[in-house]
Amino acid sequence: MAKVKPLVFDYRGSLIPENGITPDQIQQLGAALDSARNEILKTDVELFASQTNIPEEKQPLDAGFFEMPERILDEYQSNRPESELGRILDTATRLRERVDKVVVLGIGGSYMGARALMETCCQPYFNELTRAERGGRPRMYFEGNNVDNDWSQGLLEFLKNHSQGDGPEGKWAIVVISKSGGTLETAAAFRQFLAALESEVGTENLPDYVVPVTGESGKLASLADEIGCQDRFLVPDGVGGRFSVLSAVGLLPAAILGIDIVALLEGAAAMNSQFRTQPLGSNPVLDYVAVNHLLEKEQGVVTRVLSVWSKSLESAGFWYDQLLAESLGKFERGALPLTCLNSRDLHSRAQQHQEGARDKVMNNVIVDHWRCDPLPIGSSERNQDQLNELSDKTLPDIMSAAIAGTNQAYLDDNRPTTNLHFPAADEASLGQFFQMMMLATVLEGRLLEINPYGQPGVEKYKVNMNRILREPVDK
Ligand code: PA5
Repeated sequence: MAKVKPLVFDYRGSLIPENGITPDQIQQLGAALDSARNEILKTDVELFASQTNIPEEKQPLDAGFFEMPERILDEYQSNRPESELGRILDTATRLRERVDKVVVLGIGGSYMGARALMETCCQPYFNELTRAERGGRPRMYFEGNNVDNDWSQGLLEFLKNHSQGDGPEGKWAIVVISKSGGTLETAAAFRQFLAALESEVGTENLPDYVVPVTGESGKLASLADEIGCQDRFLVPDGVGGRFSVLSAVGLLPAAILGIDIVALLEGAAAMNSQFRTQPLGSNPVLDYVAVNHLLEKEQGVVTRVLSVWSKSLESAGFWYDQLLAESLGKFERGALPLTCLNSRDLHSRAQQHQEGARDKVMNNVIVDHWRCDPLPIGSSERNQDQLNELSDKTLPDIMSAAIAGTNQAYLDDNRPTTNLHFPAADEASLGQFFQMMMLATVLEGRLLEINPYGQPGVEKYKVNMNRILREPVDK
């Protein structure tokens, strides 16, 4: 396994005299954190494997996400062609050779991870590049994550008008992802996009252009049988939607885009190893939970701002918003996640964060090394903007100054911050981040005695929506 450069979590900005927490409080929480960790490492994993005697308060117990990265990697090492990863890579290659655009249909946990992977790991204007510049990898579009008439039709129209010719440039495919197979937003979009695709490639060729990722059974699985889809992937039992990014749900779209999914999984496995072995103080999962949990409990800090300092990471922040909100927002409890992208949101939200209610922690996510060489401001004969004195400063210099200046302003006013350092916005860092946040969410759930799995509250709108849709319409 390649050596993974670790994420570094620095919480010194929360050890502040007022509105913060103390090293003693962290130490005192140590025993409870250890016991919650042991519960995940021993009880949850064992109970999950045995699938018997799972106590009612632990149900559902979707602990399958935890050891999934190692399992998928091991299987790939021992039997590449038949392993799941091998099949995912084969399908990605086949689609790449055949089509120039892929529409990924899915919502919630069946969508947000793939989007984060694309935005973090691909060239920012990937879809705008020529096929050669993309290395033959298809453009990717996301739908079925809403029921917005104009955006759905916009994409259908775009596909129709920009898919000409017999070669791959003239073709597009669908990857439809739904664990339950019955989510209305995704199902409606699948029906509409499938109809458009069928009219272009013909019924007999549909199986070559449709790849479902779904459960063993369900409406989408039956539909896939009916269409005759050969290439299909499972959302494993015991892996909840928002915990499924490192299964085929995230891996297939990522592989289609040419993202290094082995490095992604190795990053996640490295985070697992730290979680299993490292003590409080050098364990990013335990430390992150300790600081955020204590701030909430001792200081009423109920808003967790994930302040990302790279545009590439905004969607990873949205992925985390869903993870925290759906997992711990239960029984009238649970912190409010809020992703901010800086420096952009310094010009929209920072006023409130600096001087508003003292109910927030800024969890900064900072990229230490940018992909491209630093771009200097440059000197100019037109110096009306008076920037010549800063001509040697680069965009990373300005970003670093903005981060330091913002953290200093919070510190001066006793407002807590933490810094999570990504060595780079790449696969290994993102894999660590995904696994760190999934583990942290489950760990905090065990600490709060809230079952992090399941989302019973989401069912309520679905019941109402289905009833309303089926009500007779007064003419
Ligand atoms: O975390 C979850 O389980 C949910 O957010 C689901 O991912 C979301 O509701 C989509 O469900 P499905 O994949 O069954 O279509």
